[in-house]
Amino acid sequence: MPEDFNVTAYEVEGKVDYNRLEERFGIKPITEEMEERIRKLAGESHYLIRRKIYFAQRELNWLLDEYEKGNKFYVYTGIAPSGSMTVAHLLQFIMAQWLQEKFDADVYIQIPDEEKFLTKNDPKLTLEYVNGLAHEDALDIVALGFKPKKTKIYFDTEHANQIYKHAVRVAKRITFSTLKDAFGFSNETNIGAIFYTSTQAVGTFIKSAEEGRKIPCLVPLGVDQDVHFRVARDVVEKLGYYKPAIIHSKFIPSLKGGPKMSSSDPNGAIYLSDKPEDVVKKVNRAITGQQSTAELQKKYGGNPEKCSVCQYYKYLFETDDKKLEKIFEAERDGSMLAGEHKAALAGKINEFLEKHRKEKARLKNKIDDFILQPQA
Ligand code: TRP
Repeated sequence: MPEDFNVTAYEVEGKVDYNRLEERFGIKPITEEMEERIRKLAGESHYLIRRKIYFAQRELNWLLDEYEKGNKFYVYTGIAPSGSMTVAHLLQFIMAQWLQEKFDADVYIQIPDEEKFLTKNDPKLTLEYVNGLAHEDALDIVALGFKPKKTKIYFDTEHANQIYKHAVRVAKRITFSTLKDAFGFSNETNIGAIFYTSTQAVGTFIKSAEEGRKIPCLVPLGVDQDVHFRVARDVVEKLGYYKPAIIHSKFIPSLKGGPKMSSSDPNGAIYLSDKPEDVVKKVNRAITGQQSTAELQKKYGGNPEKCSVCQYYKYLFETDDKKLEKIFEAERDGSMLAGEHKAALAGKINEFLEKHRKEKARLKNKIDDFILQPQA
């Protein structure tokens, strides 16, 4: 029987059923109790957890137990550049920044500037080009409010002498047949793409290796990335480190109604580099949950779950639950028509992007304070 949806590290197809995905991946929901524990320790809850956008986890209770015993964790996440960052990429960095602030956690960020070069068949993605994107991404990330010194961004090709030795230790314990099953690789897959997963695993123990002691690690990620850690977790433990704890987020839907906003679909995605007029244009073309005419919409109302405009508010642009509920209600009861709805969202996004551009400009000359200290 053909799968009705498919989530791999390199492709997302169909309508994703997150409950069934938990089963397939062997991951467990973030329970109310866990949510409450986080809220107590952090002093506040986070909208991405409250709204179950971060919906699943591995080893979260263990991580919080350790934290309560005084064994602090660090955070690890990353992004593989292939174009300008989209707003969908922000989810793991918003979470990492919040964890840094609330749990006083160091944050390690891998920018694998070889991943898309290796895994995509696109002549535009030369190593030099991707490396340039990587530096732009670094600035986009720190502009979200990360702390200098407590944030350590590293680029695979530039920090190779700090990560390669760890990557090979991981690689030795993972077989090609495991990766074939996990990633759908075949004999035609290039050997760089096959090796890559071992470099992604390094972040889960890089701080422990640097400091020569076992330090718990929490990885916030988009659920499609779980597979890298599924194959590496046991290996990491065998190397003498803790298995990482993980929290998994859902995908922000495409503006055009697909299952996942993809950076390779310019009309369905909002890039951090988009100009105000691009944002207005894209949002105007977005799929809403509304009826086909204003009259029908006023009469029957729409469905916020199917409305990409409502979903954008939910995932990123309205963090206040009461205000979000008002927007959803106005969609349901038909009182807010598509045009008005879209204009308001485009305004919010542009407000965010404007602030973001200013932060980037302010930090441009300070970026070195956020980069992992290179070793000679
Ligand atoms: N492979 C990820 C991507 O395609 C990038 C990445 C590197 C990452 N290290 C990570 C994602 C750790 C989550 C956690 O964007």
